[in-house]
Amino acid sequence: MPHTAPHQEPRRSATGGSLPGLGAAEFTAGLGTAAGVAVEDAGPFERAHLRERWQQASGEVNSLLLGGASGAEALTLIARRTRELSGSDCAVILLADDAADTLVVRAGDGPRGQQMIGHPVPASAPAVAAVITDRTPTVFADFAHMVGDDLARLGEFGPAHAVPFGPPAGVSGLLLALRDKGGSQFGQEQLPLLASFADQAALAIELADKQRQQRMLDVLADRDRIAGDLHDHVIQRLFAAGMSLQSVVRRIADPDARARVSRVVGQLDETVREIRMSIFDLHTGKEDNRASLRRRMLDIVAEVSADTDVSPAVRISGEVDTLVPDLVGEHALAALREALSNAVRHARATDVTVTVEAGTDLVVGVTDDGLGMPADVARSGLLNLERRAATCGGSSSAAARPDGGTRLVWRVPLTGA
Ligand SMILES: Nc1ncnc2c1ncn2[C@@H]1O[C@H](COP(=O)(O)OP(=O)(O)O)[C@@H](O)[C@H]1O
Ligand SMILES: [Mg+2]
Repeated sequence: MPHTAPHQEPRRSATGGSLPGLGAAEFTAGLGTAAGVAVEDAGPFERAHLRERWQQASGEVNSLLLGGASGAEALTLIARRTRELSGSDCAVILLADDAADTLVVRAGDGPRGQQMIGHPVPASAPAVAAVITDRTPTVFADFAHMVGDDLARLGEFGPAHAVPFGPPAGVSGLLLALRDKGGSQFGQEQLPLLASFADQAALAIELADKQRQQRMLDVLADRDRIAGDLHDHVIQRLFAAGMSLQSVVRRIADPDARARVSRVVGQLDETVREIRMSIFDLHTGKEDNRASLRRRMLDIVAEVSADTDVSPAVRISGEVDTLVPDLVGEHALAALREALSNAVRHARATDVTVTVEAGTDLVVGVTDDGLGMPADVARSGLLNLERRAATCGGSSSAAARPDGGTRLVWRVPLTGA
């Protein structure tokens, strides 16, 4: 059996046929001009060197991602190294769009490669579909022929290497190394190198994504902890300090001193309010500037209690922002405003607590330690609270507390709403 050099082996084409082997002379012509690397009929030394270059490129992609680069930056580097190391005129990465029937060019290297970024390619194009569904790296002798002229600029290319690109669980993309029409053919031996580069790079991107998510979760958990500490310790202490100052103010004879202590009490109140806002920011993250229900509730508390002597304690529990439908949220905000302003205006309370719990029901509670509800009153705001609750299939009631003061509970169901 005659010895067959690798470059003379029949090449697989996606049409299933074999391409005639090309002679070494034809092969060397015009090869490796881009990077001087991808010489298909290279000897063992060159082959080892080439393998090393691909491994280096993988390492580069890894460290780029470890350094916090975005997936897009990594894709750009992958395309660049692919073009250089495969001695191609162009390299592009196509990834599945949200609508799974389209791939979009996400990165490209080489002048035309960059121009193609953003171009859609139907996933049903035979050349594309074959590589993705079979997950088989494939050598194309004439890519233009395979994709037809309608595939934008992809139709300008001849020899091509196509390897699956994406997480092993669901390959959804394609890494293409392309040479101009009439350019020299790719050799089979390049293919595994490119395929394993694509695998490793895709894996690195996936891992980096997971790590980013984990980091985000860590940050959120940390923020929750800080928020909890601020709420449980810092606020309570400031609050207690304010209360004890307030209780001695009346006993201070000197009007100047009294005014100063009162000012300090006011400043403590203001500080508590500011910390509440910060806690809220910690919970939501500054980047989310769409006012959530939680934020709007805290804003209402701050607004209604501004310029009053009370600084309500607020406890919000449950997934208020996700569990409460918009309409119910609007009613709840109005209910909170009314109930709180009653406690602030009518009760002459020193202590007011607002609780909001989202579970099977959304429960807004406002408790004060004031005068208590008079027996016979003309109700307007209170009626309005009941009407709003009824609209949402719930109820509202204000009741005297055993040890003085009033507790208003506004409750509406969240399940099946
Ligand atoms: N938390 C409360 N503590 C003491 N009295 C209250 C409280 N909430 C309401 N009231 C009394 O009930 C009355 C009716 O309240 P409401 O229906 O909200 O009407 P409005 O606030 O317009 O007076 C108030 O005028 C007040 O006398
Ligand atoms: Mg009222």
